Formats: sequence, C-alpha cells, structure tokens
Amino acid sequence: MTLMKRRHFSAIALASTALAAGLPALAQDNTFKIGLILPMTGQQATTGRQIEAAARLYMAQNGDTVAGKKIQLIVKDDTSLPDVTRRLAQELVVNDKVNVLAGFGITPSAMATAPIATQSKTPQVVMAAATSSITQASPYIVRTSFTLPQASVALADWAPKNGLKKIVTLVSDYGPGLDAEKFFKERLTFNGGQVVEALRVPMRNPDFAPFLQKVRDLKPDALFVFVPSGAGAAVMKQFLERGMDKAGIKLIGTGDVTDDDQLNDMGDGALGVVTSHHYSAAHPSAMNKKFVEAFEKANKGLRPNFMAVGGYDGMRVIYEALRTTKGQGGGDALLAAMKGQIFESPRGKMFIDAQTRDVVQDIYLRKVEKKDGQLYNVEFDVIKDVKDPGKTR
Ligand code: DHB
Repeated sequence: MTLMKRRHFSAIALASTALAAGLPALAQDNTFKIGLILPMTGQQATTGRQIEAAARLYMAQNGDTVAGKKIQLIVKDDTSLPDVTRRLAQELVVNDKVNVLAGFGITPSAMATAPIATQSKTPQVVMAAATSSITQASPYIVRTSFTLPQASVALADWAPKNGLKKIVTLVSDYGPGLDAEKFFKERLTFNGGQVVEALRVPMRNPDFAPFLQKVRDLKPDALFVFVPSGAGAAVMKQFLERGMDKAGIKLIGTGDVTDDDQLNDMGDGALGVVTSHHYSAAHPSAMNKKFVEAFEKANKGLRPNFMAVGGYDGMRVIYEALRTTKGQGGGDALLAAMKGQIFESPRGKMFIDAQTRDVVQDIYLRKVEKKDGQLYNVEFDVIKDVKDPGKTR
C-alpha cells in the first residue's frame, strides 16, 4: 500500500469508528420508547399476558417504525404491587427516558404512577385499570379501557325490567368495586329496584364462600358481582357449588366476571349469565373477527379478553399521536394528539374525550351462550356512546 492509500484508508477507518461510536446516540434519537408496566406474575398475571400479547400484535400488524421513529417496547413486571409500579415508572422515565408510560393492570398501580406522569410531563396510557377517578389523578392520563360506572349503569337499567328487583351486590373491596357498587345501586334504586345488601370481599386472595352463603340466606332475585379480571371463574364455581342458581338466584355482573380469558373453562353452569361490558370476543364486526383470529394465531389459541383490547387500542392511540406530531413532539404535544381520537376498535367505535381524557364507547348487554361448542358473551343489546357517569364535568 502506498503512503497516500494508507492515509486514505485510515481516514475512512477513523470516520467509520467515529460513526460507530456515535451510533447509539443517533439510534436513541430515532427511538420512541414505550414503558409498558404490567402485572406479569401474581394474582393479575392474566391481565399482563393479555395486554403484552395485544401490544405485540398491534406492532406486528402496524410495523415498528412510525414517523421515522423506531418503536421500542420496554415491558416491566410490577407484580401488581403499586410500590413496585411507582419505582419502575420512575426508572423508566429517568433512566430509560421513555416517551410514554403505558399498561397499569389495577387501579392502585395507575394511581401510584400519576404523580410521576405529571412531574415528568409523560403521557400515561391506562390500558386496564377502571376506577372512574383515575383520569383525574393526572392531566397526563389517557384511558383506553373502560370505567366501572360506565359498565354498571347499563345493567341496573336492564335488571328491573327483567324481573330482578331485589339484588345483593358483591364487589372487590377497592376502587373499581366501590364504583360498581355505588353506581349500580344508585341507578337500580332510581329504577324502582332495591339493593338489599352490599357485600365487599378483600381484593387479595378472596374467599367467596362465607359471602355466598350469606347471599343464599338473603334469597335475592339476583346477585350482582364485580371482581377483577382473573377472579371470575372462582366466583362462578362457588356460586354453582352452592346451588344458588337452582335456588332461583340469578348471577349478573359487569363483564369482568365472565372474562373471555376464562369463560370457556367455566362450564355450562355459566350459560345464561347476563353481564354488561364494552368488549366481547364474540362482537360481530369484521374488524373484531380479524382481531380475534390474529390474536389466537399469535398466542397458541388464547382468546383475547377486554384487557387485550384495551392494550391494542392503547397502542393505536400512541401510534396515531406519534404520527400526527410527525415524531417531533414531547409529552405535551403527544398528549394533545391523543385527546379527541375517534376510531374503530375491535370493541366497536371508540372515542377519547378531549375534556376528560377518558374513553367514550358503546356498552353491550350480553348473555353467555354456546356457539360452535364454546362459551361466549353474546351481545343482545347496546347502549351507544356511553360517557363515564362518574365524571362530574
Ligand atoms: C380493575 C382491574 C381489573 O382486573 C378489572 O377487571 C377492572 C378494574 C382495576 O383495578 O381498576
């Protein structure tokens, strides 16, 4: 090699070394990070599994580059303990410099993160937790799941018209359960029905037996239940074991109790159970059929539930915000682009109310029926465009 050539060569080598050294920084600028905090283990693990699978499906279907940015999903397991959620959120914001926080399997986890979202001006997309007041905990919170008042009120309208007037409520003793109890009772009373007893079971490791015994003794027309996703099968089993259905007590509830993640394993005893909710895997739209098929294909036959749809739509809200801000916006710009989004979800039409940052959506009445040998929540009525009744403004 001549001297000239050698010089030329080492100049190129130097340039490419510098380029290589600069690459991580460059790549970081072109990366859009979503910190997805979910309960992947513990009592709420099905919620985490459903939402992570849905987020990955959304990315597989829509690509991992938006407005020139490469989307990076950072999944963290908070084991559904709010102290852990808060620590993980802090680390994701400070160390990983995430652009968006997302996930939040239960209300206490969403609440614990709210101050971090506010202080760091990071949008917090709540994909699961469903207590009404969550969106008021930070102006940076946007919700793509549902609220318990939204789901409960529809059932309190349906029940007395269908002969169920004396009702016992049984709820998990924390935010969403208290919302369900309050809004169901208010509307039922308004409609001329009566809550004869309001029972609350512990959220962690609940034993439903003593409560169900009490319900049996009270002999109401119906038992209204809210338990978080994953606990429905235990309620159903004990309800049937005690022969409560045979004693003429009807089981009703928000759709959390006939969760699509578990419904098919609940057995024929679940047939006829009426619930109200925003999503059923049996929702008869072309978009939902495609969603369910793709989800099951990517997850060894796992049926998507309402948690999955909250995660899938949450990713849509994030992608769209990134697209409209052309990849240039910070937290405030992204948040502004999340507000007011209207789109078709596998659940039906949905809308992020710009004032409340909460989801406005159709609520369906559904009955458990057998279709092609499998149990489904089959929709038989719909209340259109339901806003969260828990919002005072
Ligand atoms: C919440 C959790 C659930 O699993 C559910 O089905 C509804 C609400 C919550 O903690 O907000």
